[in-house]
Amino acid sequence: MTHMTPIIANVRFPFSLMNAAGALSTTRAELLAQARSESGAVVTKSITPTSFLDPGAQCGLENPGTDYYVEVIPELRQWGKPMIASVAGLTIEEFVQVAQTLTQAGADLIEINLNDPHVHTHVNPFQSVEHLDEVVSALRRQISAPVAIKLPATVPLTLSDVAHTLVRNDIPVVMCHNTSVNGGPSQARAVLEAAEGKLDVIGVGGVSTGAQALAILQQGVKAIQVGSAVVKEGVGVFARLKHELGEFIGADSAKLAS
Ligand SMILES: Cc1cc2nc3c(=O)[nH]c(=O)nc-3n(C[C@H](O)[C@H](O)[C@H](O)COP(=O)(O)O)c2cc1C
Repeated sequence: MTHMTPIIANVRFPFSLMNAAGALSTTRAELLAQARSESGAVVTKSITPTSFLDPGAQCGLENPGTDYYVEVIPELRQWGKPMIASVAGLTIEEFVQVAQTLTQAGADLIEINLNDPHVHTHVNPFQSVEHLDEVVSALRRQISAPVAIKLPATVPLTLSDVAHTLVRNDIPVVMCHNTSVNGGPSQARAVLEAAEGKLDVIGVGGVSTGAQALAILQQGVKAIQVGSAVVKEGVGVFARLKHELGEFIGADSAKLAS
């Protein structure tokens, strides 16, 4: 059965769709608009220790730094929906420092950005299974909030090795891309199968209609993060997607609207 109000890492989400990190989620005004919208959670831009300038990057790490979000997170929490802080750094120590500061500020879940090219250059988490094991083990041990790992669209290890490494280190959640490479199963689907129910998968990307969202949720993905459609349409996209999903699900639509 498809759940529209999933529980992920012991946190109840009021709706299974939310913004992807960085999609209208950098400034206080953007984050407040996400909090007031029909989105099932608020996901921040990826946050680094101090402000990060990334000239020319469209989906990079440019953000005003941790102190800015420490001020904003308590205000966002007043809307009562889960608060996911996306975290990035150029060392493991930076990831841990930002994650712990944002956990103390009230983040419910820490999303570790292993998707960004800067992170790959400096931390290179996917250079080997052993190194990935060290990286996620260090993060898991030193971050007190539940940790979610966001994967890059293509990973130079098998997805089975990646999934087993996360499970072995008690990582509860993984963000996987909904797209497929070479026409095979999507990354989200491959990780779901390899993890055998031991990881909650949040699917990222490729969704702009209720029909697309439903097809992905029916695979067993617990929730979906929407990027480009949020940027294009604004936070009103969540009301539209909720309405479209309600029409598909029929009997569940009353639950969706409540
Ligand atoms: C403007 C913009 C900024 C982004 N910034 C980040 C970011 O800070 N951290 C991150 O992990 N992903 C970032 N992304 C990637 C999205 O989170 C998401 O993975 C990607 O857009 C795929 O989803 P889509 O197909 O719905 O666009 C950004 C994307 C966009 C469009």
